[in-house]
Amino acid sequence: METKELLDENLSLKQEIKRLSDENLSLKQLFDEKQSSSKQEIKQQSSSDDDERETESPSSSSSSEQQTVTPWSVRGKIIDHEKVIKQFGCKKIDEPLIDRVERLTCRRAHVFLRRGVFFAHRDLDKILDRYERGDKFYLYTGRGPSSESLHLGHLIPFLFTKYLQEAFKVPLVIQITDDEEKIWKKLNKEESKRLGRENVKDIIACGFDASNTFVFSSYATVGGALYENLVEIADCITVNKANSTFGFTGEVSTAKMIFPSVQAAPSFSSSFPHLFPAKKNIPCLIPCAIDQDPYFRLTRDVAARLEFIKPALIESKFLPALRGNNGKMSASDPNSAIYMNDSNAHIEKNIKSSVSGGRDNKEDQKKYGANLKEDIPFQYLSFFLEDDAELEHIKKEYGEGRMLTGTVKNRLTQVVIEIVERHRRARAAVTEEMVDAFMAVRPLPYMFE
Ligand code: TRP
Repeated sequence: METKELLDENLSLKQEIKRLSDENLSLKQLFDEKQSSSKQEIKQQSSSDDDERETESPSSSSSSEQQTVTPWSVRGKIIDHEKVIKQFGCKKIDEPLIDRVERLTCRRAHVFLRRGVFFAHRDLDKILDRYERGDKFYLYTGRGPSSESLHLGHLIPFLFTKYLQEAFKVPLVIQITDDEEKIWKKLNKEESKRLGRENVKDIIACGFDASNTFVFSSYATVGGALYENLVEIADCITVNKANSTFGFTGEVSTAKMIFPSVQAAPSFSSSFPHLFPAKKNIPCLIPCAIDQDPYFRLTRDVAARLEFIKPALIESKFLPALRGNNGKMSASDPNSAIYMNDSNAHIEKNIKSSVSGGRDNKEDQKKYGANLKEDIPFQYLSFFLEDDAELEHIKKEYGEGRMLTGTVKNRLTQVVIEIVERHRRARAAVTEEMVDAFMAVRPLPYMFE
């Protein structure tokens, strides 16, 4: 059995390598260390029979310019986010929408929103319409616990979700898909559960409020109403539909077939009778990285058939790998990302050797300026340096050659170490009891206050 799986894996890796060289793709960036599943590929196509399709037909894109964004891998030269929006059929988050969020929440938009890190959405406008009328909604996000500790990229949706939760004063459910790691990464069940709990500590350390946050793991909570909805959902998804959405083939296990329904079920409020009145549909907004879109495209298709409200989405770009767009952020290469449990010395060293868009020597740098598009430290600063004026200053000075790479890397090191140290302190204060408290199945009586 094990040997056969290894052989299958080996075969699929070979096929994958061949496919990559066939398509001559220079980037193979796996964002979330789900290498074992890299054979899966989305055919960015909807086989939906519904009138309201969630995606566009892919026929317009030629294979030479193809890029792949799936829950398991993110490939393509440099990800063309405009193209992803078109292929996926979601919408771009524009200035008027950001202004509207600011007006409704009476606070400045989060940097991730202002700077276009969260760049795409589905029905965010509808959620805002409802919110404006005084109707409630809830937030849903999640984490597949694929590593001992979260890295900076993993933190992005959680930091952003915390902002949304505070700004809109709404409850939040966080799904820990420990089953996903068992199914896709072939981690043993106990290890998946253990990593899940460790990851919950990192998530709590982001500063969520236990009075309006419910964290739950698939292994521990799938049952009851959540399972009832899961079965309804799974019953709407044909094998053809799963195959076309996730690139499944006849070789895929039935556990992998069922998983999209596991991730879909928390999008409907009736899955949580201890939080929401059973019969009333409360709309859901899902902050997530863009690679999760296929799951929720499918969920939205199914929602229409089950007469549930389609979940709205707000979707982010990826933080590039430290080694540049040709690298990948993965657990197997500890230098490709900054983990929240890295030492300061390691962070410093790692940022020093990250890919720079600065020129080879001072003279050239002065003459031509840095190539900011390829400069990883500058890109990281645009995610994490909060001060708009300082970022603008660096952009100008560095881009026009008056600032050197070393200065930019030093500034980034300071910014990152500050974030990581704050996180480390918060995480050290998280106890097992707090994890139990966040994960207790309980009503949240003050969740909208
Ligand atoms: N599949 C996600 C991952 O690999 C975990 C997840 C589950 C999730 N439910 C979610 C992510 C909802 C965003 C929103 O990390």
